[in-house]
Amino acid sequence: MPKVAYGLFEYFSTVGLPTVLIFVAGLLLSLWILSSRNPRVKWPPGPLCFPVVGCLPQLIISGRRRQPTDLLPWYDTYGDIMHVKFGEQHVIMLGTYELIQEAFVKNAATVSARPTWIYFLRQTVGKGGAGVIFKSGHEWKELRRFTLSSLRDLGLGRKSLQERIQDEARYLVQNIEDENGKAFSPSDRIGKAASNIISLIVFGARHDFNDTPELLPVLEEALKSGEGIQFFTNLARFLMPMEKIMSLVDRLYSLIRQEVDRHRQSFDPTDIRDFIDLFIKVTQEEQDPEIYTEWNVFRIIVDLYLAGTDTTATTLRWSLVHMVNHPDVQKRVQQEIDQVIGQGRVAKMEDKARMPFTEATILEVFRLSTVVPMGAPHATSETTNLAGYTIPKGTIIMGDLYPVLHDKNNFEDPYKLKPERWLDDDGKVIKSDKMIPFSMGPRICLGKGHAEMESFIFFTTLLQNFTFKVPEGEKPPDGVEGLNTISFTPYPYDVCAVRR
Ligand code: HEM
Repeated sequence: MPKVAYGLFEYFSTVGLPTVLIFVAGLLLSLWILSSRNPRVKWPPGPLCFPVVGCLPQLIISGRRRQPTDLLPWYDTYGDIMHVKFGEQHVIMLGTYELIQEAFVKNAATVSARPTWIYFLRQTVGKGGAGVIFKSGHEWKELRRFTLSSLRDLGLGRKSLQERIQDEARYLVQNIEDENGKAFSPSDRIGKAASNIISLIVFGARHDFNDTPELLPVLEEALKSGEGIQFFTNLARFLMPMEKIMSLVDRLYSLIRQEVDRHRQSFDPTDIRDFIDLFIKVTQEEQDPEIYTEWNVFRIIVDLYLAGTDTTATTLRWSLVHMVNHPDVQKRVQQEIDQVIGQGRVAKMEDKARMPFTEATILEVFRLSTVVPMGAPHATSETTNLAGYTIPKGTIIMGDLYPVLHDKNNFEDPYKLKPERWLDDDGKVIKSDKMIPFSMGPRICLGKGHAEMESFIFFTTLLQNFTFKVPEGEKPPDGVEGLNTISFTPYPYDVCAVRR
């Protein structure tokens, strides 16, 4: 042991516990003062951060309701760009469209990394990151390009993505029909329908509504196990049920590995059926082996399943909440469906251009019920100047989407469902820059087009076939508050689906 450390050890063994605690507290306080006085760093204003825990105590107190609105008063107090500390981790929160654009678009070169050093990601994907969601730098760019082009090519295969979504929408209608207009909870079957679309692309197979695909409950439980912000700090190991989460992650990985093994038995390099076949092909070909490692391509499979299932399902769950609360809107959408599609066929994307009210209603659901309210964490790969503040390398940057989509300066009466806000005087759909539920810049959601197609076809097919109502004697479901974990989901609710 070095001499100084030995001397300190000798000294502390002779004094009492209170002296040791005072010494440790003094040391932490000095470190904290030194770190917050770094002249090269200029943090934006933010709440008081304590040593070790940062502003977690205030966050836990103000976030007791666990709503995406919890942090809004902080922006009023500290400003639209805010510095907070989750435990030891410095985080910059951006609460306006202009600031998110400055960070994610103008400074994309240095604000597009992911914070893979944080405890939770080190445990699940490794310090260097993997796949597409959790990779940074030129490897991320290459893997993102590969994922996008593969999804496009797979969609051009045997059956187009649109046909698969149309089939699944028909199955969903048949399944709901079995309820014969009685009250039921739509949540699970919507989850199964959305999971089937990703499963077809990734695994080449769907599940019947009566079986539960093994992956789905694992995914749903994993998503519910943590609150967004706790993931960012090394204290996650004490604040979150890490053992349970890790066992769910292991289960998820092992179920996907089983699928890979099953695919290897019938693999034919000239007939690529789905993403797993592509994984086998790419890893066998050994092109660019530094980037196309088994781990990276395996994690892309996990990413697509993780990012593409719950998000689209939850958007559809919110759509039904809003339809039962707004029968007038539901009726106008149905009138448009009857005019443009009728009852004889299922919706296709070409119909959208002739269905402005339906498009406006879907846009309004995306906006009002922001399913990924805080977006995903970005990180600075170099020192970056944002709004006049000098932000050091290794800082987490959160583009907070919820305040942008609920700012009364961007959208009047932001907590009300008003599809008309998206229509001009000629009844045409208005585009708005401020509409960023998929984030923006080079990290923008990779599945945006896919999610828009799924939302349009599922929503239209359901309303073509049913009128959704609140069951007799029940309270209407909450259209503003919900369960906010990683995604923002409505509280459990029942509806009646009356055949049209
Ligand atoms: C309503 C549906 C969806 C919403 C609201 C949504 C939203 C988002 C958001 C906010 C991000 C973070 C972007 C950022 O880091 O700034 C994201 C990333 C991502 N999404 Fe989506 N998403 C949806 C559906 C999907 C679907 C269906 C897929 C897959 C087919 C998908 C795949 C991804 C991937 C792979 C990323 C990471 C992109 C990257 O890091 O380069 N998402 N999404």
